[in-house]
Amino acid sequence: MSVREEFDEWATSGRDRGMEERHWHTAKEALARMPVEPGDVVLDLGCGSGYAGRALRDTYDAGRVYGLDGAPEMARNARSYTDDPNVGYVVGDFGALPFVDDSIDHVWTMEAFYYAADPHEALAEIARVLRPGGTLYCAVNYYEENVHSHEWQEFISIEMTRWNREQYREAFRTAGLHVAEQDNIPDREITIPAEAEFPLEDWDTREEMVERYREFGTLLTVGVAP
Ligand SMILES: C[S@@+](CC[C@H](N)C(=O)[O-])C[C@H]1O[C@@H](n2cnc3c(N)ncnc32)[C@H](O)[C@@H]1O
Repeated sequence: MSVREEFDEWATSGRDRGMEERHWHTAKEALARMPVEPGDVVLDLGCGSGYAGRALRDTYDAGRVYGLDGAPEMARNARSYTDDPNVGYVVGDFGALPFVDDSIDHVWTMEAFYYAADPHEALAEIARVLRPGGTLYCAVNYYEENVHSHEWQEFISIEMTRWNREQYREAFRTAGLHVAEQDNIPDREITIPAEAEFPLEDWDTREEMVERYREFGTLLTVGVAP
């Protein structure tokens, strides 16, 4: 199955908004760290419902925001959630970004990067479009140290890349980006039921759920274009 087939179905069944709700818990903390200045051009890769770009427009007065997604129905939904003329959504692939060299100030990507058919090619593309001094904020919940995420691949038809923290840093450097920061952002908002309520459908023990959300949370790696 292609990105388009998999995620068009998610979009038409409303899962784009569901992801937004869940991802917002940690995404907002990562977005708050981005050094976006008024007027900057921002690209959101694998934008889903497009919430991140809209938030960056609202809070930082970003000049122009592009959301790129491989699933046309995702881009269509995202477009329908805003009438802001400075936010645009395009259908495209991480492996061939439809932007000229040195044209983007900041790239944001949340829970999407690891779907790239070739993540090294995607990083090279990001490095190509970033202006000198531009940043990449790459946030993932699916990564090696987060053992609770490993089974997700069983439920998705697209091959997912499961790197560890070091592999992210190494790949950023290989693409020519400096690694400015790497951090785990805990999800402090998800409700964790009392011990007596376990096991739950998805969790055998409360400790596992606490580890997944409060300890591992979202892995954020920040790159800077030289
Ligand atoms: C799990 S969703 C995350 C959406 C959003 N960033 C969020 O935080 O809710 C991943 C998104 O990335 C898109 N995507 C996956 N692989 C892609 C690729 N190679 N090129 C472009 N978009 C891709 C999917 O269509 C989907 O909308």
